[in-house]
Amino acid sequence: MNDFLFDAGNAAKANFADIYREPDPRPYFASLGACDYVIPEHAKPVFAALIEALRETREREHLTLLDLGCSYGVNGALLKHGLSLDDLYRHYADMAESDRAALVESDKALVERAETDSALTVVGLDVSPEAVKYATDAGLVDAGVAANLETAAPSPAAARMIAPADMVISTGCVGYVTEDTFARILDLTDASPGPSPWIASFVLRMFPYDRIALTMAEHGLVTERLEGITFIQRRFADEAEQSEVLKRLDSLGIDPTGIEADGYFHAELYLSRPRDEAAPLPLPALIPAEALAQGA
Ligand SMILES: C[S@@+](CC[C@H](N)C(=O)[O-])C[C@H]1O[C@@H](n2cnc3c(N)ncnc32)[C@H](O)[C@@H]1O
Repeated sequence: MNDFLFDAGNAAKANFADIYREPDPRPYFASLGACDYVIPEHAKPVFAALIEALRETREREHLTLLDLGCSYGVNGALLKHGLSLDDLYRHYADMAESDRAALVESDKALVERAETDSALTVVGLDVSPEAVKYATDAGLVDAGVAANLETAAPSPAAARMIAPADMVISTGCVGYVTEDTFARILDLTDASPGPSPWIASFVLRMFPYDRIALTMAEHGLVTERLEGITFIQRRFADEAEQSEVLKRLDSLGIDPTGIEADGYFHAELYLSRPRDEAAPLPLPALIPAEALAQGA
């Protein structure tokens, strides 16, 4: 259930709900592109470093990635198929006049030409059935789950897709989801053989992560925040949005100087891992400096 703090944060943000529910991604890319939405691109080298670290830790090449709030398969396109966010912005702008079927075919062709990491299975989960259907039809994710784990446990079919996750990632989704979603995911992964997943979330600074971290701890995971660096998510839609967000940050005692005060939402990286895997490898040591180059 959304709590007071998350409700207040969501009230401060411009409402993009409609573009998450369209049959194809073009309105999503057009609207978010107008606000320079960029967090998946900033997250890409960080997630890539974490995927490699997890492969080394577990001495296993094949991993299953659960992308929470996957929308139209953006993180799958970037991480599994090596595309860039600019590739996607350009592609969907070029295809403005096509119908959905032609767009799906052109995405499939893009994926076929890409250098795909076949040892990475990407499962996308989103509350939007339209977005999940597009991501799976276009082959940007390997499998999709349309579900709202804030309000109900997943169906048995959805549970079977979520349970094998080795890593859970999210960009732009915490705030829409709370500890309730993570608890339902962890109930499933706990019941599945093998160690718990690593959970890496890029989270706007106005959404406190403490209750999510507490839920992780209840499931044996230790949570770290990457200190000293924030990542631009997007430009504020207008002055009213910025002003609401600054008020919200002020109420949380967070100083926006040089960060949100300069006109952009910023996110932080949180990583939760099983204690025995986290202890020898602190988060800063996992991420090479070049992966942080886009941070602020
Ligand atoms: C800002 S978009 C981010 C999408 C994508 N991760 C990206 O960075 O481009 C937020 C996404 O969260 C999804 N979402 C909202 N509520 C959700 C919920 N309860 N469970 C799963 N996804 C949800 C929305 O449908 C939307 O696709």
